[in-house]
Amino acid sequence: MNEYITLDVLRYNPEENSKQNYQSYEVPFRKDWVILDALNYIKDELDGTLSFRWSCRMGVCGSCGMMVNGEPVLTCAEFLNTFHPGPIRIEPLVNFPVVRDLVIEMSDFMEKLERVQPWIIRKDEDTPKGEYLQTPSQLMDYKNYSMCINCMLCYSACPVYGLEPRFLGPAAIAIGQRYNLDNRDEGEKQRNKVLSEEEGIWQCTLVGECSAVCPKDVDPAAAIQSLKVSSTVDFFKSFIMPWQNR
Ligand code: FES
Repeated sequence: MNEYITLDVLRYNPEENSKQNYQSYEVPFRKDWVILDALNYIKDELDGTLSFRWSCRMGVCGSCGMMVNGEPVLTCAEFLNTFHPGPIRIEPLVNFPVVRDLVIEMSDFMEKLERVQPWIIRKDEDTPKGEYLQTPSQLMDYKNYSMCINCMLCYSACPVYGLEPRFLGPAAIAIGQRYNLDNRDEGEKQRNKVLSEEEGIWQCTLVGECSAVCPKDVDPAAAIQSLKVSSTVDFFKSFIMPWQNR
């Protein structure tokens, strides 16, 4: 006999109803299915009106993040088996406005990401004549932070971002630090102005949930703490060696 498991999915359609409400679906319980498979089963077989984001099904695109039983996770990386016998509660990521059903509005993050200038900055604008060479150890300096897939789980897990939406947040700061640590980059000074302003690193109270939920082990909490140290050193250096500020 086929076994089924219940998914309680938070629905919201602003065109029809301004209230969110849970809808229950019975889906086949298969040990090789992840939560995303169950959502796709609902979409294909039970209710085509359910909206959610996904793309790669392999933990790379970062678009399938949702709350599952209250925890921010990538739904393509969590097996139904883990939550047996259910029911399983599926909600959109917290700390974000909801566009519809399980789809969140990410424009706040996109604006913050742009503020940290996530690209290589060079003082000379001339086109380089060749490659900017990099040793394996120079690559390792920033590689961990370059693994961020912008999945927003860290923003959902961060209590500071939940209380203070102006906080730059874990991923944007970690990505800023990724470029600061890249030996080809010369934009640390201008990037750090943004990272250390009021809404930046000093808002972090070191809860560490951002690193705990990161599916790529990026460790944004470490990026924030190391930026706090370097920012403090720069502050004192500006008194001892004021000419460096010029
Ligand atoms: Fe791409 Fe889950 S679908 S990370």
